[in-house]
Formats: sequence, C-alpha cells, structure tokens
Amino acid sequence: MTEIQTETSGKNYLYAVSYNEQHLAQIKQAAHSFYRARTFNDPHELLDLLHKKAPSALVVDGRLGGMSGADFIAKVRTFLSGDMLPIVYTPSSTHIEAHDPSKDYPGVKVLEKPYRRTELLHAISSQVNSSIESEWNDIEPVQQAALKNTLESFNSIADLMSEGNPVAYEDVTANCAPLLKAVQDQNYKEMLSGVRGHDNYSYVHSMRVATLLSLFGSAIGIKGEDHMTLTAGGLLHDVGKMVIPHEVLNKAGKLDDKEFGVMKSHVTHTLEFLEKTQTLPKGVIIIAGEHHEKLDGTGYPFGLAGKELNQLARMATIIDVFSALTDRRVYKPPMSPEKALGIMGSMTGHLDQTLTLIFKEMLLDSVGDL
Ligand SMILES: [Fe+2]
Ligand SMILES: [Fe+2]
Repeated sequence: MTEIQTETSGKNYLYAVSYNEQHLAQIKQAAHSFYRARTFNDPHELLDLLHKKAPSALVVDGRLGGMSGADFIAKVRTFLSGDMLPIVYTPSSTHIEAHDPSKDYPGVKVLEKPYRRTELLHAISSQVNSSIESEWNDIEPVQQAALKNTLESFNSIADLMSEGNPVAYEDVTANCAPLLKAVQDQNYKEMLSGVRGHDNYSYVHSMRVATLLSLFGSAIGIKGEDHMTLTAGGLLHDVGKMVIPHEVLNKAGKLDDKEFGVMKSHVTHTLEFLEKTQTLPKGVIIIAGEHHEKLDGTGYPFGLAGKELNQLARMATIIDVFSALTDRRVYKPPMSPEKALGIMGSMTGHLDQTLTLIFKEMLLDSVGDL
C-alpha cells in the first residue's frame, strides 16, 4: 500500500463526492464548523487527488457521475485502508439494496438519505475518532465515563442547538458527575491525556476547561453544587463556537476585524442558547458570558472591568487562557504549562494575578503533564 500524506495545512479536511450539487452544498454547510470541506462532482478527479493526499474523512454519495458510490469506495480501498481514510457512504435505499460496501470494507459507515445534519456530523465524527474513542476503553473506569459522558453531552448539545431546543441542566450535571468525581479523587491524568487526540477541537477545549476549572475549584475549597457549577460551566462555556465557521475557528494567523467580530459572537451565541434553560445556575452564565472579559475593561462582549468581574469570572478567564495556550491545534503544537504560566504572569491587564498565582501553585502540586 502506498504512503499517503495527510493535508499538511490542517488534518481537518473533509472531502465529499456526489453527482448532486445541492447535496454537496448541504454537506459543506453541515460541516462548516468542524471541517474544511471540499466537494467534487467528478469521482476521477477525486481519485487522482486521493492518491496524493488523504483528508480526515470522505463522504461518498450513492450515485456519482459515471460510477456508483459503491464502485468508487472499492477503488479507494485498493490504496487507502479503513484506518487511513474513514468513509461515510450516503446512498438512497435503492442503492443500499443493490450493494452495501460497509459489508466488504472496514471503515465505511452507511448513512441512508434523507438524514439530519447532526446524523451526518455524528457519522463523520464517530468514524474519524473511532480509534481514539476505542483507546478510552483501556482507561480507568471513572475517567473513561468522564470522557464518554462529556462527549455524549457535547454531541447532544449540538443537536439541541441546531433544533433550537434548550438543554436540560440535570442532563448536563448527570454527564459531568464522573468528571467531577475524578477531579475530587485527584484521578484525572489519563482522561486529560486521552481527550487530546479527539478531532473535535471545541469538545477537547471544553472538556479540558471543565476539568481544570473544577480542579481550580478544589484548590480554593469550592464544594457541592458550586463545584458542579464550575464543571458544567466549563463544559458549556464555548458551545456557541459550534456555529462559527471552521475557517475562522481554526485560522492559523491573526484574525482580521471581520473574522474577529465573527469569533467574538460565539459568546452571544452561547448565551442565547443557555438562557433558554430557566434552571441554569447563574454561575454557569457568568463563566460562559465573561470568560473573555479583561480586568482593564478591554475584553468582550461587555467590556466589564475591575470589580465588575467577580471571582468566578476571573477564574474562568484564567482557565480559558491557560487551556487555549496549552491546547493542541491543527496549526500549532501544545505550549508547555510552564511557558503558558510565564506568559499569563505578564498579562496583568487581563488576568487576576493573585488567582493566577494560586492556579500556578495548584499545577506545581499536581504530578505529571497537564
Ligand atoms: Fe470563548
Ligand atoms: Fe474557551
């Protein structure tokens, strides 16, 4: 089998092939927050490209120009294995009756038309992340449950947001319970390293923020429901990013003014979604609404300053900055915690330095790599 290079400019490429322009446009639209989508009418052109570059995943329609989707998959599998390229096959029922390539080839998931946007995203995500998610089965049970439950929560929130429905806070707390238990038992290292390879960056970041904010809470003696508020607030703090286009969310360079405006709107999108849930603790809203504020008043979206920012908002900001710096992104490796803390120590107009110092001491006390 030939060596295939993945896209060097970003592994999060999704290719889709169909005879139907409208279907391709729908796929592009559905994936826009998660992947850089490229669409193809001509299966031969795509085959040529796949010989040179493999994307993260491929969506293959039942009917293509000049060949069937099943025949196309058979050709792809002669040089790209299921491990190298996960495929979502989107036939109509008549195509699947004629031939089901998922029976012949590994790494092919069938999603029959018509499907909902979230079904396509779940199908792609489960294919792309199948190896990392199966590695979670070897992790210690509470940490494994923390990973699986927070991912489930995150995916269900994507559904609720796209349907315009509110999230039930008790569902979020039930899914966050293993994570909180793991933090309380100081038993969290494997889940923090286990989440890193997942390709849904918003999920990875949110799960890390939930864990670190919860750890920060332990360090300053927060208990009970307030501790759960930190955990759930961390998981929910950026859900509005699910509507921000991938190009803006994952841009390697500096955002221009227009792009920065789009990026900033994630806070408003998050608040609009969370405020549909009447029973949400106020603390969750503060974490989501104020984690981009700065002490000197130059943050967003409210431009709050000094005393207008309470301890919870200050903690959320510290954890969000630390996580963003130490996250692995498609365009940058993770920064070491030491270097991140050094940078944060100089962000005096942005971060509360007393709390930053407490966070730093907490990290120094913990053993191993965060
Ligand atoms: Fe944010
Ligand atoms: Fe964030």
